[in-house]
Amino acid sequence: MRITPNILLRLAGLLGILVSIEIHAAGQSAGMDRIDRRVDELISRMTVAEKIGQMTQVNASETPIPDELYEAVKAGRIGSILNQVDVDLVNEIQRLAVEESRLGIPLMVGRDVIHGFQTVQPIPLGQAATWNPELVQKGARAAALEAASTGVNWTFAPMIDISRDPRWGRIAESFGEDPYMTGVFGAAMVRGFQGDDFSQPGNIAACAKHFAGYGASESGRDYNTTNIPENELRNVYLPPFKAAIDAGVATLMTSFSDLDGVPASGNRFLLKQVLRDEWQFDGFVVSDWASIEQLSVHGFTANDKEAAYEAASAGLNMEMATPTYANHLPELLEEGRIEMAQIDAMVTDILRIKFRMGLFEDPYTNPSDYPPIANEDSLAVAEKLARQSIVLLENRNHALPLAKEKLTSLAVIGPLADDPYEQLGTWIFDGDPELSRTPLKAIRQFLGDRVTINHVRAMETSRSRSTAGFDEAVEAARSADAVVAFLGEESILSGETHSRADINLPGSQQELLARLNKTGKPVIAVIMAGRPLTLRNIIDEVDALLFAWHPGTMAGPAIRDILFGVESPSGKLPATFPLMVGQVPIYHAHKNTGRPAVPEKFTHMDDIPVRMPQASWGFASFHLDAGYEPLYEFGYGLSYANFAYSDIEVSAAKISMDEKVTVQAVVRNEGKVEADEVVQLYVRDLVGNVTRPVRELKGFQRVRLKPGERRTVSFELGRDDLAFHGRDMTLMTEPGEFHVWIGGSSAAELGAKFTLTAD
Ligand code: NOJ
Repeated sequence: MRITPNILLRLAGLLGILVSIEIHAAGQSAGMDRIDRRVDELISRMTVAEKIGQMTQVNASETPIPDELYEAVKAGRIGSILNQVDVDLVNEIQRLAVEESRLGIPLMVGRDVIHGFQTVQPIPLGQAATWNPELVQKGARAAALEAASTGVNWTFAPMIDISRDPRWGRIAESFGEDPYMTGVFGAAMVRGFQGDDFSQPGNIAACAKHFAGYGASESGRDYNTTNIPENELRNVYLPPFKAAIDAGVATLMTSFSDLDGVPASGNRFLLKQVLRDEWQFDGFVVSDWASIEQLSVHGFTANDKEAAYEAASAGLNMEMATPTYANHLPELLEEGRIEMAQIDAMVTDILRIKFRMGLFEDPYTNPSDYPPIANEDSLAVAEKLARQSIVLLENRNHALPLAKEKLTSLAVIGPLADDPYEQLGTWIFDGDPELSRTPLKAIRQFLGDRVTINHVRAMETSRSRSTAGFDEAVEAARSADAVVAFLGEESILSGETHSRADINLPGSQQELLARLNKTGKPVIAVIMAGRPLTLRNIIDEVDALLFAWHPGTMAGPAIRDILFGVESPSGKLPATFPLMVGQVPIYHAHKNTGRPAVPEKFTHMDDIPVRMPQASWGFASFHLDAGYEPLYEFGYGLSYANFAYSDIEVSAAKISMDEKVTVQAVVRNEGKVEADEVVQLYVRDLVGNVTRPVRELKGFQRVRLKPGERRTVSFELGRDDLAFHGRDMTLMTEPGEFHVWIGGSSAAELGAKFTLTAD
């Protein structure tokens, strides 16, 4: 080859790039090396007890802190505490660890900061209904700042269990049924909690939980068995964890549940093969509360010692709350069943995170370094999240928005209209009901003295069966221009251990709505709840139906703005709402089956003639009494505007493996008000090495359009977006035909196609 000046120039350029890559990589690895060297050096000085101490997390919620806990910290027998948020106590315990223990290793201080801290944001399922990851990230940042001001430096969030069962109480803590969406929101929360550099003040370590499969608990009963075939595990339940790891999550928590016969806290496949070998995760894993001890309750191990052996052999780094490791790892080491190298590797992961968090440099908390709790920014983000999470499910004859100027009186009915605690939802250890703005107060403030407000609670709680308050409620409704009924589930009916088999509105709420409806006044129901509910038995009793989840501190102003059209509703469902609970699991990304249900093949049982031959109306997959459609599909939500979709286009009919295709469509606001719309992209891979879902969510964008405005919204898809785990469980992208749809829900009809070629 002749070496021309041109070639020389290009070689020089290439060399320059290589050198700069090298320098950059060297810079990064210098930081890593420095931490690894510090970890190695520290480990070389640690006794066995100190190492096991790092693997031990204890509950420190008791005040005053028991002397034994102080002594254990001083002796280096504790690596982390949880559930203490008194900053003076946290600083004192931290001081004992840093200044009075032999090696001065600081503690990780854990807390469930799940949806806000003292300022409570909507439950995570509600946050998912915003379809606004940037806002969720801001919410996590606001929560981190409040929590960090009390000394907390580690949250047990985000919870990224896929849940396709609304009976399960913990669906409230999740982002719903969809793996892509859960991954996007999980990553956003991780970024919000940890920031770009989680050694900076106010950034706290995140914990993706529960690894893995917890959301598939049989019959939605909490802690129940899960059986998930590996292919489904890899395609549905694991991707959000991979997304959290790609976003830099520091820690993971194991699940309480038993996965295909092996409880998560002793599951080597999950904790070793997937997490470490395949994903190269270099953070650490904490057990759930007592879940190592519970390996024996599962019947997986015979006693605590064997439980410690299985968990440690799986590489579970830290034990939460129980002393199984502390009591048995020394003996297991002596017997040679566990090797020191295994312990060192587990402790290394923990210390690596402590160094990355900057804890050795700055272990203490000075609350005055932080903005005050419940400051304007914190309240504003909580309010915006609440406003965007509200889903308009029904709006007959434009019952909503209510016209303030036309109203002379309004009936505000129901147990959740003015209950500062119940609007907060599950899992709010630090939530302060005193901060709550209730709907009743916000409506009063907005309407002023001109409008008479008849407020009747009507039911003591959402569960009450008594109808004693109904006459008064009906009276109030009769003398008003319109009725707004605040119903749903009180906080305690969802969350951990709070699963339900019947997901109708509890107590006598349906009867209350029926009575209100009989007055002939427009009835607007605002439902606050921790899960999708079966609402079929009330939709004919209402003119409009808003689903507000548990909106948190700022429920009042957020709901008020939607009721009176200050803002148009823009939330969309992150989980399918079944028609009947017997349809569960029902979710949008289901498989087609060999005999899919279609309208021509469905006959309701009431319409089947007597003694018809078996299945003569068609062999298809449906329920005789419920059909095959949900009440409201995934991604659904109405607006006060009216959005129309058209002009879908793919940038190329054929793309190769290395190319990307752009899919775009035009969305127009044909309504009379400016509003946000969540534009969604769905894909179907027509033929697969394993069968593929009928639709998969692959992208979404929230856009704001003025009346008459149109916008082209586009999405890019490439081989990674189309990848899935095939029969041999590896990630693959197959050539073939793909269908795409763009629209306002998973039932979008505007579609196009493209082909991916093998080259
Ligand atoms: C049990 C729950 O399952 C988990 O999510 C939580 O983080 C821990 N307890 C600590 O409270």
